[in-house]
Amino acid sequence: MNLNDKNILMTDTVALGEDGRSIVIIDQTKLPGEAVLLTLRERRDIFTAIKTLQVRGAPAIGVTAAFALYLAAAEIADSGRYETCCEGFLGELAEARDYYASSRPTAVNLFWALGKIYDLAASYAGRELVATVKALRAEAAAIRDGDVASSRAIGEYGLTLLRDGDGILTHCNAGQLATVRYGTALAPIHVGREKGMNFRVYCDETRPLLQGARLSASELVANGVDTTVICDNMASQVMKNGWIQVVITGADRIAANGDSCNKIGTSGVAILAKHYGIPFYIAAPLSTIDRATPNGDGIVIEQRKPDEVSHMWYKQPMTPEGAKIFNPAFDVTPAELITAIITEKGIIYPPFAEGISAAFGA
Ligand code: MRU
Repeated sequence: MNLNDKNILMTDTVALGEDGRSIVIIDQTKLPGEAVLLTLRERRDIFTAIKTLQVRGAPAIGVTAAFALYLAAAEIADSGRYETCCEGFLGELAEARDYYASSRPTAVNLFWALGKIYDLAASYAGRELVATVKALRAEAAAIRDGDVASSRAIGEYGLTLLRDGDGILTHCNAGQLATVRYGTALAPIHVGREKGMNFRVYCDETRPLLQGARLSASELVANGVDTTVICDNMASQVMKNGWIQVVITGADRIAANGDSCNKIGTSGVAILAKHYGIPFYIAAPLSTIDRATPNGDGIVIEQRKPDEVSHMWYKQPMTPEGAKIFNPAFDVTPAELITAIITEKGIIYPPFAEGISAAFGA
């Protein structure tokens, strides 16, 4: 189904299909040229959608994974092989969980959501399968609803750090397209727009997959925001010009000490922000915080295919044959470069280890 640009913000990035047996996503690989809804039913298609970034952004991946594992449970139940939530059923569900878990390694929301659905199924051991599948559907829906509520709260908290007219630099897309609604880094801007505020937003284009140029710029323009796309290597210049008052990015995984892993290039932006004395904020829900990982060294960084650097977007290869390509999808910004982490439970300031524990109620 085709959408027009305005509808990007009126349409959930990820939703359970009306039939309860499919997932409907906005195909982000087609933006900004085409706004198309994709209906996914087969496990392989859902896996491919995550792997190829048709659906992307840590929270959106988490919601997709939650729906995907519920659909797998429903499919196993439909097969008639099991009457109850027995060992055989849980074994098959674990296979589906591990399959989806192998789609991308870095965003912790993927593993968090798969774990929540699987663990709930395990807690139903011995009970009727019908009741189990019903509970999993409700849990997946709650993860989706929680994502919307968290994103909205991040928007409200984040807005307290902004002034009308501020210049804001962001990297990658941590907007509505990376969640179900609102986004994380862009949520304060969307919420501010609702309240009649205006901002000047600079989107790093975000090589090599251009999430900033294609996605952040699309949703900001659709919301009437003054939007400027810059190449990644121009950030220093716009900061030097005095055009940026605040930097906000999202995160794919935040370690217990506050080290934050996000799209490749984010750590460079944080270093620049420190140089120019500009506050650097990370906006993310608690589901992006991985307290089992003590610091950024423990975060697995996805390595992607060389042709995203050498061929993609070009009519002919832009690197000579024989040149090696290094294509990590993420980097880690050390906690000491982060001014604060904006979550749905409030704004966490350094020292992050204590602030994070407090946010989880420890
Ligand atoms: O490779 P992507 O496009 O999935 O990377 C996304 C990011 O790095 C986002 O900034 C992050 O997931 C936060 S989304 C709210």
